[in-house]
Amino acid sequence: MSEQTIGIIMNGVSGRMGYRQHLLRSILVIREQGGVLLSDGTRVHVEPILVGRSETKLKELADRHSLEHYTTDLDAALADDRWQIYSDFLVTKARVPALKKAIAAGKAIYTEKPTAESYEEALDLARLAKAAGIKNGVVHDKLYLPGLQKLKRLIDSGFFGQILSVRGEFGYWVFEGDWQDAQRPSWNYRKQDGGGIIVDMFPHWSYVLENLFGRVESVYARAVTHIPQRVDESGATYEATADDAAYAVFEIEGGIIAQLNSSWTVRVNRDELVEFQVDGTHGSAVVGLFGCKIQPRNATPKPVWNPDLADSHDYDADWIEVPTNDVFENGFKTQWEEFIRHVAEDGPNEFDFLAGARGVLLAERGLESSETGTRVDLPIVTVD
Ligand SMILES: NC(=O)c1ccc[n+]([C@@H]2O[C@H](COP(=O)([O-])OP(=O)(O)OC[C@H]3O[C@@H](n4cnc5c(N)ncnc54)[C@H](O)[C@@H]3O)[C@@H](O)[C@H]2O)c1
Repeated sequence: MSEQTIGIIMNGVSGRMGYRQHLLRSILVIREQGGVLLSDGTRVHVEPILVGRSETKLKELADRHSLEHYTTDLDAALADDRWQIYSDFLVTKARVPALKKAIAAGKAIYTEKPTAESYEEALDLARLAKAAGIKNGVVHDKLYLPGLQKLKRLIDSGFFGQILSVRGEFGYWVFEGDWQDAQRPSWNYRKQDGGGIIVDMFPHWSYVLENLFGRVESVYARAVTHIPQRVDESGATYEATADDAAYAVFEIEGGIIAQLNSSWTVRVNRDELVEFQVDGTHGSAVVGLFGCKIQPRNATPKPVWNPDLADSHDYDADWIEVPTNDVFENGFKTQWEEFIRHVAEDGPNEFDFLAGARGVLLAERGLESSETGTRVDLPIVTVD
């Protein structure tokens, strides 16, 4: 059996996503399992180099996980042929310059979303990557969630008949930081630092909607900053200039209406932190990160509206839990394995910079919709 090693630059690896999802749950697990197996039986091992701004933090991480390579010199890592893939988990604001450097260095690139702060920049990245002929991928982690995989299976099986609508609730209470520490970094609540729930979540909704239901044709959104002041990591009070909730309607090709609430200012009264209900002519489903329950048309109760009588019907009991039937691994890890196969043996990769640009476009048009109070159409995105 032949073996090869791919070197991976991991920039921003000390951050929340970089460390937990990309290093701990993806690259280290892939190393422990002995790499990624290609279709011809070749085993691809992964060798990361940790990149960041603080040598102390990088050394501590490298020591903790017995990793050999780390550096604060991104340019030197990019100039070194040992590292074929550049991966990026920086704060959104710092991403575009770093990705441009990696494109110029001819690296294959795998990045967190959003790929840029503006659609123009995101599209420019897709153009530059195409011109340079480099492979590129963008995190589409939500599609790999067990709940959404089960939903995909239902759609592919024809369970829904004609899909009519999707309603989704994403969110939870993010503490203000005064009497309890906030559980998300403070830059998320400052527009000038790349924050905001639309910029954060609409790139996810873009790929979730287009991969499950079809092209998103228009958006109407209302972005709100419900909590105007928060307290940061150092205990200082700051103005929350970014939206912390967005209430949106997306129109999808074929007439499907998706209505998604995204909020860091909501208390959870549902089974999971994200939940989507899909209603079709032949059946409905409610899916979360893990769970998926269905109600076919022939098991649908017939409620009659009567405000004078308390309704004793147990509506929850009308739903059937869909069995898992598969082993679902961490989605970040699975997508990393796919991207490594894409680089090593040209395996499929739909989730590229162009898909990333569509996500940024949806966020930008969502903010425009909120500012103008109008529904905004979305063009078909191409690099030509
Ligand atoms: N896929 C997902 O579900 C998901 C979830 C959360 C965040 N994200 C994305 O991941 C990225 C990182 O988010 P996070 O929550 O890990 O943030 P974080 O603040 O925890 O980490 C950010 C990293 O960027 C580095 N950094 C900060 N400012 C920098 C600068 N000016 N120059 C260079 N490096 C800088 C930090 O040192 C840190 O390593 C964001 O783009 C965010 O949108 C994705």
